[in-house]
Amino acid sequence: MAIQWFPGHMHLTRKAIAERIKDIDVVIEMLDARLPGSSANPMLAEMTSAKPSLKVLNKQDLADPARTEAWIAHYSALPGVQAIPLDASMGAPARALVQACHVLAPNRGGMAKPMRVLICGIPNVGKSTLINTLKGKRAAKTGDEAGVTKQEQRITIADDFYLYDTPGVLWPRIIVAKSGYNLAASGAIGRNAFNEEEVALELLDYLRQHYAAELEARFKLRSVAEQTDEQLLEAVGRKRGALQGGAKVNLQKAAEIVIHEFRAGSLGRITLETPDEFSQWLSAGQKLDAERQIKKDAIEHARLVRLKKIPRPARVQDGHEEPSD
Ligand code: G4P
Repeated sequence: MAIQWFPGHMHLTRKAIAERIKDIDVVIEMLDARLPGSSANPMLAEMTSAKPSLKVLNKQDLADPARTEAWIAHYSALPGVQAIPLDASMGAPARALVQACHVLAPNRGGMAKPMRVLICGIPNVGKSTLINTLKGKRAAKTGDEAGVTKQEQRITIADDFYLYDTPGVLWPRIIVAKSGYNLAASGAIGRNAFNEEEVALELLDYLRQHYAAELEARFKLRSVAEQTDEQLLEAVGRKRGALQGGAKVNLQKAAEIVIHEFRAGSLGRITLETPDEFSQWLSAGQKLDAERQIKKDAIEHARLVRLKKIPRPARVQDGHEEPSD
């Protein structure tokens, strides 16, 4: 299954970011600490590549602490990039954000040169929650439906520190299949855009390899590493009484249980990708994408030749070039 999701208002967001970026000193990209690579936005990276970047690994309370550290180290090693872990329970996140931004743009500060920061993030990453905390009141809308749009707003964190919130969300074409599954598992993708059973199977497959103890403890299972993802989904359904028509497991219900418990953190603190894993998935995804593009271009080229909109390419025979028509 390829998860594709590109709501129309994304174009609006892209335009808004392109306009705002000229006057911005630091770009804060909020990432989901459980899937930092997959929750990053390559299109945003492209649009803001010239600006210093602060990666906020949000929802760190749900993520594997050792892996969060690995991701922070990974980002901090990149030029012009800082990274900090964060979660909604941290009462005063402003200080950490302000400090990190001053490291990234040391020449900004004071009333004459206020720090101007743009905050971006995929749906459900916790941007509204953070902004509400920073504002000290419930002004930005939070909710569990992915992709709530709103007007650009400026939040004054200090007299010389302005935070600009992008309206809507930015979502690129997902070229890494695994990212699609991880985003769906995390709650970033609207319910109708994915198949719960497939997402739960992918999730179980990863968990049995990397978080076997957590899976066994939560669902009272044994030797999960030796079972297939299908067997595990069945076993979860049985343990939780998700049955239909006699003793048959209701796989849809079992899948919903797995996804819900992962999202709620009931399985423990889990991160679905390491920097190395993600970089491998990305290379494979980019390669496939490039191959797909070559095929598409070839089909389009053949179509144009057929319509005589472009000349047929010359063929080389016995060292002599045949004239094209
Ligand atoms: P968004 O603006 O980026 O779309 O995200 P939003 O703030 O609406 O947050 C999406 C969901 O993530 C909300 O849960 C919110 O409470 C939760 N959340 C935000 N930050 C954190 C965090 O650091 N840790 C954890 N564990 N959860 C976080 P919800 O169930 O959709 O709504 P609610 O009833 O909890 O408000």
